[in-house]
Amino acid sequence: MIRLEGVTKRYADGTVAVDNLSFEAPEGKITVLVGPSGCGKTTSLRMINRMIEPTEGKIFVDGKDASSLKPAELRRSIGYVIQHAGLFPHRTVLSNVQTVPNLLKWDKKRAKDRAMEVLELVGLGGDFAKRYPGQLSGGQQQRVGVARALAGDPTVMLMDEPFSAIDPVVREVLQDEFLSLQERLGTTIVMVTHDIDEAIKLGHRIAVLREGGTLAQFSSPDDLLAHPNDDFVAGFVGRDRGYRALSFQRAEVPIYPAQPVELGDRPLPDEEWSIVVDANRHPIGWVERDAVEGPISQSDLQLGGTLAEEHGSLRGFLDAALSSPSGRGVVVNEGRLVGTLRPQEVLQIIRKAPRPSGDTIAGDSE
Ligand SMILES: Nc1ncnc2c1ncn2[C@@H]1O[C@H](COP(=O)(O)OP(=O)(O)OP(=O)(O)O)[C@@H](O)[C@H]1O
Ligand SMILES: [Mg+2]
Repeated sequence: MIRLEGVTKRYADGTVAVDNLSFEAPEGKITVLVGPSGCGKTTSLRMINRMIEPTEGKIFVDGKDASSLKPAELRRSIGYVIQHAGLFPHRTVLSNVQTVPNLLKWDKKRAKDRAMEVLELVGLGGDFAKRYPGQLSGGQQQRVGVARALAGDPTVMLMDEPFSAIDPVVREVLQDEFLSLQERLGTTIVMVTHDIDEAIKLGHRIAVLREGGTLAQFSSPDDLLAHPNDDFVAGFVGRDRGYRALSFQRAEVPIYPAQPVELGDRPLPDEEWSIVVDANRHPIGWVERDAVEGPISQSDLQLGGTLAEEHGSLRGFLDAALSSPSGRGVVVNEGRLVGTLRPQEVLQIIRKAPRPSGDTIAGDSE
């Protein structure tokens, strides 16, 4: 657990980067600091491991007053992922990842074994260890940065915009991997981002900072979306926060049994559209009866959009319903077809669901 109590940082030139900041980052969870550029996120993060000393206030790490601990020791027990990975360019990946184990003076074999283990963990097993950072993609470098922070077995990790330099598709993948890794390891994480979507996706708790380094709101993602404290937070969270809030809302939506077909089938059921599954009952597309001549072939398939998880969120149901060529959303459980849902019924449930104050879903007339 990490607790900030009335922490202020005034730089030598008089700039107040962080102003009377208090919050508690719970044990084993992800706390995200989010806010516009220059609002003091990096400064706040660096005060936790004493790379920057607070001017006022106190910081507790696992119940201990950080100012009573030796900075070097504190830093060795806290993993730190720097903005843009920050790898040593002239050292191999392995050597980069071994930095903390070496500082901790682990014996050579243990340090190497641990480094290989965490590289495996972030999906960079095998030959990657021998490469230099310049021989990796941006996303791979970020993974090495995460591996390096994990190598010393920290119970706490500080991460400064760890996914910012990565293209959106790879970023989604890395975020998902990061979430499941965090869940498995139970590391307490404080992470910085300027991306509110990333904050909402990854954070168990979100601290929204405003310029001048004051705390605008500290809450869970769904609470932040449903009850923004003021106009600044509401504006930062965005006009489409109602749509984002659907990510958290679960509801029972009627699911209709489907009569799936497979490639090669003929004739088709007496329905305008049929869903096509593979041998494992995984949906692979739709066919329109009037458009198919012979047995169903690959070229007859009209690919749908997203599939909804049976016990997923309203947003998942809505996405599936709106992205389907047949007008009906496809519902799966562990990838296998469960049935279909109707967009009108999803919308009806959304209309009845409690909404964030003053916000509507579509045709927003704010
Ligand atoms: N060494 C310093 N001396 C004086 N002012 C500084 C120093 N470091 C940072 N600042 C100022 O403190 C404020 C907060 O900086 P900080 O780097 O913490 O912001 P940030 O929220 O991380 O911004 P970004 O999103 O751009 O990374 C800024 O106004 C910055 O110019
Ligand atoms: Mg910063």
